[in-house]
Amino acid sequence: MKEHTLQCTFKQYESEAELEAQDRALLERARQALENAYAPYSNFKVGVALQMANGETLGGSNYENAAYPLCICAEQSTLAAAASRFPGIAVKALAIVVKSPHKVVDSPAAPCGGCRQVICEAEDRTGQAIRIILQGEVGPVYIFEKGADLLPLAFGAGYL
Ligand code: THU
Repeated sequence: MKEHTLQCTFKQYESEAELEAQDRALLERARQALENAYAPYSNFKVGVALQMANGETLGGSNYENAAYPLCICAEQSTLAAAASRFPGIAVKALAIVVKSPHKVVDSPAAPCGGCRQVICEAEDRTGQAIRIILQGEVGPVYIFEKGADLLPLAFGAGYL
C-alpha cells in the first residue's frame, strides 16, 4: 500500500490593491460581466473575464434556464465563447467573481467541479496554463498559477 498526498499552492492577497494592474483590471472586467448574468432562478450571479494570449479580454456570465439542468456556468459559457470568437488563441488568465442575493460574499468562490474540468480541457488543448484569479463580492483574492491545481487527478483525453 502506498499513501499519496496531493498538494495545491495558491497565493492570498488581502485586497485587490495588492495585485498587479493587469490582474486588477481582469477582476474589474469580471465584475462588469457579472452585471449581465442571466440568473433569474438562483439570483446568484457569476462574472468571468478571460485574458487571451493575443491581448484581448472577454467577459461572460452564468446563463440559466427554466429547465434547471441546462443552466450554464459563467466559466463554461465564457470559455466556449472565447473558443468561437478567438479560435486557436490560448487563454492566459481567468478571473471569477460572484454576487449572492443572500449575503455579501467576502471570500473567494472557487469554480464548481464541472468548470474545473472544462478549464483543464482548455489548458490541455492549448498547452497554456491558465492563471485563476478568484474573489467573492469583496475581500481577499486567491491566485492559482494553473487551473489543474484546482483539480487533482483530473480526467483527461489520455484515458480514452
Ligand atoms: N455557477 C457558475 O456560474 N459557476 C460555478 O462555478 C458555480 C455555479 C452558477 C450556476 C448557476 O447559474 C448559479 O451559479 C448557482 O449555482
